[in-house]
Amino acid sequence: MDIEFSEINKSFGQVHANADISLKIPGGEIFGILGENGAGKSTLMKVLSGYINPDSGEISLGGEVSHISSPADAIGYGIGMLHQDPLDFPPMQVIENFVLGQKGRMILTYKERIKEFQTFQNKFGFSLDPRAYVESLTVGERQQLEILRLLWLGVRVLILDEPTTGISAQQKDKLFRALQLLAGEGKTIIFVSHKLEDVESLCDEVVVLRKGRKVGKVSPPYKTDQLIEMMFGKQITLLTPEPAVKERVTLELKDLVVEKYPLRIEDVNLQLKAGEVVGLSGMEGSGQDILLRACVGLLRPVAGQVIINGKDLSHKTYLEFMQNKVSYLPASRMEEGLVPGISIAEHFTLTGNTDRKLFIDKEQFRQKTQEKIDEYHVIGRPETPVESLSGGNQQRVALSLLKESLNILLLEHPTRGLDIESAIYMWEKLKERCKKETSIIFISADLEEILRYSDRVLVFFSGYVSKPLDSRHTSLEQLGQLIGGKGWEDELVAKESYEPSK
Ligand SMILES: Nc1ncnc2c1ncn2[C@@H]1O[C@H](COP(=O)(O)OP(=O)(O)OP(=O)(O)O)[C@@H](O)[C@H]1O
Ligand SMILES: [Mg+2]
Repeated sequence: MDIEFSEINKSFGQVHANADISLKIPGGEIFGILGENGAGKSTLMKVLSGYINPDSGEISLGGEVSHISSPADAIGYGIGMLHQDPLDFPPMQVIENFVLGQKGRMILTYKERIKEFQTFQNKFGFSLDPRAYVESLTVGERQQLEILRLLWLGVRVLILDEPTTGISAQQKDKLFRALQLLAGEGKTIIFVSHKLEDVESLCDEVVVLRKGRKVGKVSPPYKTDQLIEMMFGKQITLLTPEPAVKERVTLELKDLVVEKYPLRIEDVNLQLKAGEVVGLSGMEGSGQDILLRACVGLLRPVAGQVIINGKDLSHKTYLEFMQNKVSYLPASRMEEGLVPGISIAEHFTLTGNTDRKLFIDKEQFRQKTQEKIDEYHVIGRPETPVESLSGGNQQRVALSLLKESLNILLLEHPTRGLDIESAIYMWEKLKERCKKETSIIFISADLEEILRYSDRVLVFFSGYVSKPLDSRHTSLEQLGQLIGGKGWEDELVAKESYEPSK
């Protein structure tokens, strides 16, 4: 189904999120929408899928003007959207979620439904357990379920908003194959992203948005430099920052063993220096997150020690780690980091009121918030509720909330959801902290980010942890092989009993 946007406008207060956007999307294509954080991508897609009503403008479907004013209308026209932050799922099984919103299929028995589900998911190479609970699924699996559900509802246009954020490389391959299959069947796929490599490898055509406006449209062969220039209005060069490592040890892990079923990682030894950055690399679920949680008291070690500035905190609580100036930023920013429903200023009030004053000087916090908003280039005002910020802006707020002077900062996917320019900026901010002797350990799925910003790297493979590798002497190919379980030479492995598959 061909889609045509004509002069779409949408403002939120002062922000002109979509300004006169006109655009044609041919049926049967994988169409990319590229743009920096806050460019207006999600807004435009929410207009198409009925979640937002535009201030003006029209959408034609198959040559006829449409009347979409709710998600149900959109589904009626065959348009379904996968959101950037997955909408809440009630506690239910995969199979129950799958049949959600379907009329007339309830007469099928449970067994018949499961059989139907299995046949359907096999077509796309997905292998979800129909009886599993949705909350136990990974982000990538939830996404697969939502795609199946929408297709089963009969959508002919599938919108995916930043679908490769937070999924593993394997899941991404599966997703891309499924999308190609769907486009081959004549479905229209709209793929929203700020990741150039994803867009370049997948899309038949790409339109670039910047500051709410359409900048232009390009077709393959794509030129990365040209796309960057269109996204940001200028060229951007990536520089590898200077190391800021001092001799003093801030964190010491001694023969550490941590366990969280079904994973167990053993014999981790590390001396983290002041100002040093250590990257944790590996497939999702290989043990990086449990090591990080053990370093901040959220997971008690089974054996071994966690020593912070010479103090053994192995069995202490999160609160005690915080008192020793260890801070942690989790991956799921809307679930564990930020609180939906309250404003940016209220976040500063919550995190800033450490002396537990009874009366809070609101104006003072408002001013402080405004300073942070300026410093971190957040597009929003102190009173903006965090959930109405664009994905990248939420991440900036989460980072701006971190305390000033820290010994150790533990970060899960610090630049997930950020465009290149914002990611560079964020690392500048983090490296400034390193110069003030804060040590950083971070997890990232982006191998280039790991090698560029880490001084040393620990590689994880199904519970095995490598010895620290010097990132200056590690290549991208080498790292890629290691996270896939290849090339683990004897001297690399921290644990003696591991048998490397060379
Ligand atoms: N409900 C809302 N209320 C207020 N402002 C909003 C709302 N939704 C979006 N905005 C603002 O509109 C602008 C465009 O946001 P949008 O979410 O469309 O950007 P995006 O291109 O998807 O960015 P990202 O890559 O960060 O997800 C941003 O400045 C955002 O803060
Ligand atoms: Mg968005």
